[in-house]
Amino acid sequence: MLLLLLLGIGSAPPGLWEVQDLLQEEPLLLLLLLLPLTAAHSLGEIGGASVSPPGRDCLGCAKTGSGKTAAFVLPVLQKLSQDPYGIFCLVLTPTRELAYQIAEQFRVIGKPLGLRDCIVVGGMDMVAQSLELSRQPHVVVATPGRLADHIRSSNTFSLSRIQFLIMDEADRLLEQGCTDFTKDLEVILGALPAKRQTLLFSATLTSTLQELQSVTMNKPFFWESKTRTVDELDQRYILTPEKIKDAYLVHLIQTFTDQHSDWSIIIFTKTCKDCQILTMMLRKFNFPTISLHSMMKQASVLRTVETQKAFPKVRFANLSKFKASVYKILIATDVASRGLDIPTVQVVINHNTPGLPKIYIHRVGRTARAGRNGVSITMVTQYDIHLVHAIEEETQSKLKEYEVEEKDVLKILTQVNVTRRECEIRLEATDFDEKKEVHKRKQLILEGKDPEMEAKRKEELEKIKKQKKKFKERIQESVQQQQAEQRERNHLKKKRRLEQKKAKLESK
Ligand SMILES: Nc1ncnc2c1ncn2[C@@H]1O[C@H](COP(=O)(O)OP(=O)(O)OP(=O)(O)O)[C@@H](O)[C@H]1O
Ligand SMILES: [Mg+2]
Repeated sequence: MLLLLLLGIGSAPPGLWEVQDLLQEEPLLLLLLLLPLTAAHSLGEIGGASVSPPGRDCLGCAKTGSGKTAAFVLPVLQKLSQDPYGIFCLVLTPTRELAYQIAEQFRVIGKPLGLRDCIVVGGMDMVAQSLELSRQPHVVVATPGRLADHIRSSNTFSLSRIQFLIMDEADRLLEQGCTDFTKDLEVILGALPAKRQTLLFSATLTSTLQELQSVTMNKPFFWESKTRTVDELDQRYILTPEKIKDAYLVHLIQTFTDQHSDWSIIIFTKTCKDCQILTMMLRKFNFPTISLHSMMKQASVLRTVETQKAFPKVRFANLSKFKASVYKILIATDVASRGLDIPTVQVVINHNTPGLPKIYIHRVGRTARAGRNGVSITMVTQYDIHLVHAIEEETQSKLKEYEVEEKDVLKILTQVNVTRRECEIRLEATDFDEKKEVHKRKQLILEGKDPEMEAKRKEELEKIKKQKKKFKERIQESVQQQQAEQRERNHLKKKRRLEQKKAKLESK
């Protein structure tokens, strides 16, 4: 009861009494339950379910910024402290940046236990990672591609004794999006013991629930928050023609930076190219801007794992500079939309309306975290209105219009558009598109695919699609023709019948 009073909860949510019993034996969970975050008690339930004997699989679907990381870090450390060995726990996550962030949380909370962790992500020295893995760290935090590569190519470590498999942003890991993790996950799951606990987390789990349940085994405990976005988030939109978008953006940033010196802003763009051009453009306007996208320089001059951890490469370096508020504006693609926890972010601007509501939920979730306030502003063109409706339906909230003085925007319109064009020309001179092609080829090779074969396959698919479309059109045409002929026949029949009737009547 004391616990309930401390949490300020009137009536206990289902399962909490069981958790209280459990707390007698599991004091670390008390820490989680007593933390003042709104979702903490629910996440405490997840923690409770996962450490209570015999330990259930869990699916945790809670809002962005509600502390899901602690909900798996604490139970793992709780169990690890009873029987420490390596490799005890594997955490999978879709992006490299997120892997570093999660490992950091394990490191901070697990320091008194002498926790040893290992980060296994792409773009880093594989030999150094291999060495670290062979030293049997307690926790491995990995992105699927690189870990699968290690499993395929090395026998110096084993995942056969792990007790916990955690998938953070599990729906992203299991969906077949632009980066498809299916093959790598098959390799990884094949290396894990059948007897393990699987904990899956995301702010948007429900759409992929069936796939998720196939990964879990022992009657998963499912916790889902009722709403998708947090109350502290002020969700706004600006309806704007495509051509005026950038002028609105510059005006918004100017207003925010004039009014607040301690605010950070994340701007999400649709493509790497947009991200690059906007970064160049905002820099021309002297805004402290930095970018994050998958086309950024991957080469690292730092070889050892220790130095890589401290300053791994451009992408990480840029993120660190933004986190440290050296730069106040981060322009990013969706590579930064999930999981990143940067408390200073007060504003999220969607330069394009996200095509899927769940992308919107994760993007705007980069602000208003852990009970703080935040604003999200989505740029909407006349062609995106249906997307906003879909977002409103999924989030069960209404986006309000963000009031802007249009005349102030129009004043800077020409200057902004000219600057953008200059940046586009400068970027074209750097062969950005060609580099993108090279990058794509490299990705395919890394995925074990032949770029030429893939190009042919794509071409053939396009051909088949075109043929199908033509075929469909022809069928439609002939159906329409048949229908028209039928209508004509019916009309003639009717006409003939009427004439016969008329003739009969006249003869009478
Ligand atoms: N119980 C708590 N009380 C207060 N702050 C907390 C609590 N638990 C976690 N936090 C803090 O809340 C912030 C958000 O936590 P976290 O990154 O785990 O959120 P999340 O639920 O994983 O969000 P997302 O869906 O975006 O990944 C972190 O800065 C974390 O330190
Ligand atoms: Mg998270």
